[in-house]
Amino acid sequence: MNFIMKEQLLKIAEEAKNVLSAAATAAELEDARVRFLGKKGELTAVLRGMGQLSAEERPVIGQVANEVRGQIEDLIESKKTAVLAAERTAKLASEKIDVTMAGKKPALGKRHPLTTVLDEVKEIFIGMGFSIAEGPEVELDYYNFEALNIPKDHPARDTQDSFYISDSVVLRSQTSPVQVRVMEQQKPPLRIISPGRVYRSDAVDATHSPVFHQIEGLVVDKGITMADLKGTLETFLKTLYGPEAKIRLRPHHFPFTEPSAEVDVSCFVCGGKGCRVCKGEGFIEILGAGMVHPKVLERCGIDPNVYSGFAFGLGLERVVMRRMNIDDLRLFYDNDLRFLKQF
Ligand code: PHE
Repeated sequence: MNFIMKEQLLKIAEEAKNVLSAAATAAELEDARVRFLGKKGELTAVLRGMGQLSAEERPVIGQVANEVRGQIEDLIESKKTAVLAAERTAKLASEKIDVTMAGKKPALGKRHPLTTVLDEVKEIFIGMGFSIAEGPEVELDYYNFEALNIPKDHPARDTQDSFYISDSVVLRSQTSPVQVRVMEQQKPPLRIISPGRVYRSDAVDATHSPVFHQIEGLVVDKGITMADLKGTLETFLKTLYGPEAKIRLRPHHFPFTEPSAEVDVSCFVCGGKGCRVCKGEGFIEILGAGMVHPKVLERCGIDPNVYSGFAFGLGLERVVMRRMNIDDLRLFYDNDLRFLKQF
């Protein structure tokens, strides 16, 4: 009995030595500990049989068993230090960052053609002493129509079919309400442009969109005449389209300007001779303008006997389409990179 048990214990010690020397990870070490020293482990199983030993044999075997346990514990302990160090080294190596490696270049976006041209337009007007004004896109019917001399049931409302939020609130159909807001808040001399988004319930096609952009202009001071309007627009359009551009005013009607005009610029393709782009006209309509109606001035608390002013409004999309030879307005809003990358 004594002899067999001693043999078994030495075999366990031998086996443990082999297993532990092969263990390479903390998990494998733990498995080995459970296998040899655990409650259901091999050593415990042998010790359980000690009850059958005689009183003389028990302390002898007990001593061997303790020695074996001690050896295995020491082995595990020393191996643990080595394994943890190796694991730490491996972890550090796998997390190493090569700071000298070339980086990935982030893809750089581009400005949208509408933004590029709007910035150009702003620059031109700022250069002429204008400042930028802003107004709300969700606007009172009063500012979008009433104060601009377009009462309820006025036929001019039909040409600007609007999105109504309620009877008195609309998505602005033009940037002209900003004129009124500026004149209510500031006293002349006034010189502003107001770019922004406008909304009309138009079906989408190559030249229409329910959302587009306008740029409003307003000048109010003593002694402002139609000549100032023409001179300002001529300077603006020549800067935008080149010094050879010519402008032409045609009589028109807007309820909030009197007199009113539509302004054409000589065709940038044929220079005025007539071609397919200008449909043989030589000129292309570019904006609406006029002298601010005395009733509009009065409503904003500006005395029309002392002050006069001019206003104009242009569609940004139209200007960009002509500048960049784009024939379909929908391209601006499709977000197709193949289109946007060209500018
Ligand atoms: N708001 C007008 C439109 O949308 C354009 C305009 C602005 C005309 C200012 C005259 C003066 O048609």
